[in-house]
Amino acid sequence: MSRRIIPVADVRSLPPSPAVEAVRSPSGELFDTLARPLHDLRISVTDRCNFRCVYCMPRAVFDKDYPFLPHSALLSLEEIERLARLFVAHGVTKIRLTGGEPLLRKNIEFLIERLAKLRTPAGEPLDLTLTTNGSLLARKARALRDAGLTRVTVSLDALDDALFRRMNDADFSVADVLEGIAVAQAVGLSPLKVNMVVKRGTNDSEIVPLARHFRGSGVTLRFIEYMDVGTSNGWNMTEVLPSADVVARIAEHFPLVPLEAHNAAETAQRWGYADGAGEIGVISSVTRAFCGDCTRARLSTEGKLYLCLFATMGYDLRALLRGEASDAAISAAIAQIWEQRADRYSQLRGSEAAPAVGEERRIEMSYIGG
Ligand code: GTP
Ligand code: 5AD
Ligand code: SF4
Ligand code: SF4
Repeated sequence: MSRRIIPVADVRSLPPSPAVEAVRSPSGELFDTLARPLHDLRISVTDRCNFRCVYCMPRAVFDKDYPFLPHSALLSLEEIERLARLFVAHGVTKIRLTGGEPLLRKNIEFLIERLAKLRTPAGEPLDLTLTTNGSLLARKARALRDAGLTRVTVSLDALDDALFRRMNDADFSVADVLEGIAVAQAVGLSPLKVNMVVKRGTNDSEIVPLARHFRGSGVTLRFIEYMDVGTSNGWNMTEVLPSADVVARIAEHFPLVPLEAHNAAETAQRWGYADGAGEIGVISSVTRAFCGDCTRARLSTEGKLYLCLFATMGYDLRALLRGEASDAAISAAIAQIWEQRADRYSQLRGSEAAPAVGEERRIEMSYIGG
């Protein structure tokens, strides 16, 4: 794997810059070159997963010889907490833990406990959530809630058991995931969201059954357009089912009405069931890019900061942490990195302005989380 890593250690020797000023301001809020603030931090806590979803970690690539990160490369939970605190001082109000499968990370509850104690500059707790495949959720939901997690998002791509097993390619059953969802709901991790990645010709037959299953259950089901993340999944536009088609298929059975967005940076467009049985969402990153409002930064398991899901390079914050940089120096580095951000891959996808990938490999979803 050749991931290009940009060392940011030299940032420490730069003279005081506007970025340092931003750290001193009360909110420390940062804006990139397209005037997008930094509001969300998605932290990948492991690059491993017990599933081998065909669109994310195809078994042929992620086999027993795949070079997963060694333990020494991982940020420790204390290192993650320290970075999270600095990001929060810069305006982050939402943190999502991802993987791989985040519940495979040892002592994840300890990290959640620490993150739950963080406060925004205005004194508010964070929106603290996690994306999981659900396989360990029944066992862990209560401990996660007790540690201070507020809500969870569970991935589920089919209700048909045989199809689901084929898609996760690790023989996990739908019943396992549904049990995880039920326990998470019972302990009050809400609003609970379920994400389905739709691959035309593979699981689009499951759209209506999943909608029917979760209608009226309090779960928000969201349909994600299959994306060209990474380089392993052999993505092809013909396998993308546009969200407009998803909405049309559901509306044939259950009439839908459009709902207002909660906020501009929201990834999903919301639709409500006309009969009041709750809502669904569609995430149209291929047919209706939402880069213009993208407030998301991503921290990899080994402490690289990525500015886009489709980035080929990350900024090495671990080098700063382990080089004994002060909080102020790391804060300044974060500010400087965000303030020069111009990424908007989905908006440019397919256009002439799209960055050429060439020799550099895009990061994998399993490495950076969704
Ligand atoms: P909520 O606050 O719970 O609504 O979270 P969210 O809208 O950030 O959604 P979530 O984290 O569940 O992301 C769902 C899916 O949307 C991911 O698995 C990705 O496939 C896609 N997604 C999320 N963020 C981005 C992004 O910044 N860019 C692109 N292209 N896709 C994204
Ligand atoms: N396209 C869209 N979503 C994806 N995910 C993983 N790979 C892809 C892809 N190629 C989603 C998973 C999960 C989250 C971690 O990312 O379904 O919800
Ligand atoms: Fe599947 Fe999520 Fe694991 Fe990827 S990280 S293989 S999408 S369960
Ligand atoms: Fe943000 Fe990149 Fe996704 Fe666009 S493609 S929404 S810039 S992460």
